[in-house]
Amino acid sequence: MTSTLNSAPIHALHTRRSMKFLRAPAPRPEELEQMLQAAMAAPDHGALRPWRFKIIRGEAIGRLADLALDEVKRSGDKRMTPEKEKSVREWLAGVPVLIALAQKINHDNRKVPEQEQLLATGASVMNILNAAHMLGYGAFWSTGLGTYLEPVQEALGFDALDYRFLGFLAIGTPACAVPPANRPDFHEFVSEWTGPTAA
Ligand SMILES: Cc1cc2nc3c(=O)[nH]c(=O)nc-3n(C[C@H](O)[C@H](O)[C@H](O)COP(=O)(O)O)c2cc1C
Repeated sequence: MTSTLNSAPIHALHTRRSMKFLRAPAPRPEELEQMLQAAMAAPDHGALRPWRFKIIRGEAIGRLADLALDEVKRSGDKRMTPEKEKSVREWLAGVPVLIALAQKINHDNRKVPEQEQLLATGASVMNILNAAHMLGYGAFWSTGLGTYLEPVQEALGFDALDYRFLGFLAIGTPACAVPPANRPDFHEFVSEWTGPTAA
């Protein structure tokens, strides 16, 4: 039997890394569909399908930048200096596709706490990140751009009563060669439990 220890999917999981600076070409429509369909394979207690995605591309990215930057400034956030605004606009000018990410809160489900709905949504976003990488694209999850400001959330159709807004996924072609990521050794984070420790 052939070993799967060095299989391409495992290699892809090990080598994924976030790439913030992106450019065209964007994923082709069928590739974007593959990424979004991968999100549907996330583990999901109660099959609540809590994830919601909104695709933002072309001129709509500029409209989002105007809206979000105005709201960040209106909120009095002193970190939004003219230099910072310029760098955010420059970053977004290169990004071919953004996906706004949200969890639809199921208020009534007593069996699946909201925390689990959030985890399922996070797992769905992870699947998009991995699928983007496997298809040769770069992606970056950002909670900038006024993610935590209600006017921004509402403008995207994710009001805070019914949704938990989780930011944006930028997807495109990496603007530079992708350097290998420096990852920790898993041993630091893993131990084995063999039974209760004596008191
Ligand atoms: C929910 C979430 C929000 C994030 N928001 C930001 C952000 O606003 N700005 C930022 O520089 N990195 C942010 N990051 C981290 C990057 O997306 C990325 O994970 C980090 O640069 C490490 O890269 P890696 O994924 O290759 O380990 C966020 C990550 C997560 C999971």
